Amino acid sequence: MLLAIKNVLTENQLQVIRKLLQNADFVDGKLSAGKEAKQVKNNLELAQQSPLHEQLNQMLMPSLLNHPEYQAFAFPLKVATPFYARYTQGMTYGFHVDDPIMGPMNGRYRSDISTTVFLNDDYEGGELAIKTSFGVQHIRLNAGDAVVYPSTSWHQVEPIVSGERLVAVIWAQSMVKDPQKRELLYELGQARDVLIDDRPKSEETAHVSNVYANLVRRWSEL
Ligand code: NI
Repeated sequence: MLLAIKNVLTENQLQVIRKLLQNADFVDGKLSAGKEAKQVKNNLELAQQSPLHEQLNQMLMPSLLNHPEYQAFAFPLKVATPFYARYTQGMTYGFHVDDPIMGPMNGRYRSDISTTVFLNDDYEGGELAIKTSFGVQHIRLNAGDAVVYPSTSWHQVEPIVSGERLVAVIWAQSMVKDPQKRELLYELGQARDVLIDDRPKSEETAHVSNVYANLVRRWSEL
């Protein structure tokens, strides 16, 4: 299952972020790619040593991490700092699965959840294509929106036809490793939220809420 979250970033935040990235130091994305990804990756990434990372992350990360939909879907345990990627005309990132283990030796984490935050939308092509059990889904969201999907998915960024595509990509290790369990918890959690609003005092609401809490406890690993 993949989840689209609308308006993670405001128009003001987007303007500031795009301005910062406009003259930033971008390098070949192959530098950060694993063995398999190197073969198919053709994009640019904000240089690791760029001083802009801190400012950008401070704006982006709280907005994503505190978003209730992200929390409800991802159950994040460890969240890596974002990669900021730029795709100009003709650039692409062919089908691949993201690296399973990321981060430096002293801060390793398992990538369970991939998130793409769209920082602009004035380009053509560049759809994110994700293979799901119901076929390939093509995703292109408005600037400020995000798509969250299991890192186990095979996916690609289609070639940019015109303009340039700017995104932030974030990986997280989830407290719930199994994507199917996360999906069940997400659906049950959505139902629980509605019940708490509509029938706060009913016994059924309490039962659903208890089952949800105890399943989260049973399936979480910290
Ligand atoms: Ni990827």
